[in-house]
Amino acid sequence: MSHQQLFAPIAADMQAVDAVIRRSLHSDVVLIRQVAEYIIHSGGKRLRPALLLTTANAMGYQGTDHHELAAVVEFIHTATLLHDDVVDESELRRGNKTANALFGNAASVLVGDFLYSRAFQMMVGVNDMRVMRVLADATNTIAEGEVLQLLNCHNADVAIDDYLRVIRYKTAKLFEAATRLGGILGGATPEQEQRLADFGMHLGTAFQLIDDVLDYSSDEAATGKHLGDDLAEGKPTLPLIHTMQHGTPEQAALVRGAIENGGRDEFAAILAAIHATGALDEARRFARAEAQLAIDALDVLPASIFKNALLELSDFAVARDH
Ligand code: IPE
Ligand code: IPE
Ligand code: MG
Ligand code: MG
Repeated sequence: MSHQQLFAPIAADMQAVDAVIRRSLHSDVVLIRQVAEYIIHSGGKRLRPALLLTTANAMGYQGTDHHELAAVVEFIHTATLLHDDVVDESELRRGNKTANALFGNAASVLVGDFLYSRAFQMMVGVNDMRVMRVLADATNTIAEGEVLQLLNCHNADVAIDDYLRVIRYKTAKLFEAATRLGGILGGATPEQEQRLADFGMHLGTAFQLIDDVLDYSSDEAATGKHLGDDLAEGKPTLPLIHTMQHGTPEQAALVRGAIENGGRDEFAAILAAIHATGALDEARRFARAEAQLAIDALDVLPASIFKNALLELSDFAVARDH
């Protein structure tokens, strides 16, 4: 099932979120509007807002703050992408040129800052200290994750646990915030809130594990991103770590050299080594295990169409090709 089909139960909410996003992008500074609208209307999956909305609905939430907070979460996500594409030197996102390729690094970083701070203005409007703490903590952790990853780049001795920590911080934390906020809005008990947070955290981890698989196995038409960006940057993701641990000495040396030096020159040879060692299947196994933990955490929810959508989103996170 496509992710859009999974959003059917929250279609009206997603439209309301879109309206909040449009309204909230306003600035008198023309370049801000240009860059922000370019990236935000470029066809992202809107997965994090959908998770927040679906979780809130599954908890029986009846108000409208979930629309505002779903937009906040998407703004934070978009700001991280603007910054991420600068540091990753990526040129393609969502099937189009990245903002940095089109408008330059400076404009991307500064408009990323605009989106972060706009998100904080919006969350202050919701006026709930618990909500602000969740979002402030998540934003801070994402920054830590991106910096940790920077430190790991070109280091071929990064262990699987170090890699998992990076992806929990840079990606899973915002998924966790989205589902936790759905719980908080819906009046969850502390135990329920924690299980919903666990759900988001495991789902986000599965999602990033697969993102890192897709960097070696998908095609650009599906992901809208250039393949091999991770290798070009010398990013030690699970497919490479596994290949070094389980490949022949020659394969291990090849991958080590590519991580240490970066670049795409060895992409074809690395890909062959990755396939020979079954590294992508191993990474998919990791992702499936995380998705199963996510599904287990949903035991906390009563049966509903919203819960079903969350269960299917857990499958989508692993089965997706985009
Ligand atoms: C991209 O996230 C960044 C990662 C955490 C892998 P998405 O794949 O959710 O990006 P969009 O918003 O749908 O483009
Ligand atoms: C994205 O990690 C994480 C954040 C945006 C914080 P990646 O660098 O793997 O994401 P893509 O592949 O550029 O979307
Ligand atoms: Mg990137
Ligand atoms: Mg990636």
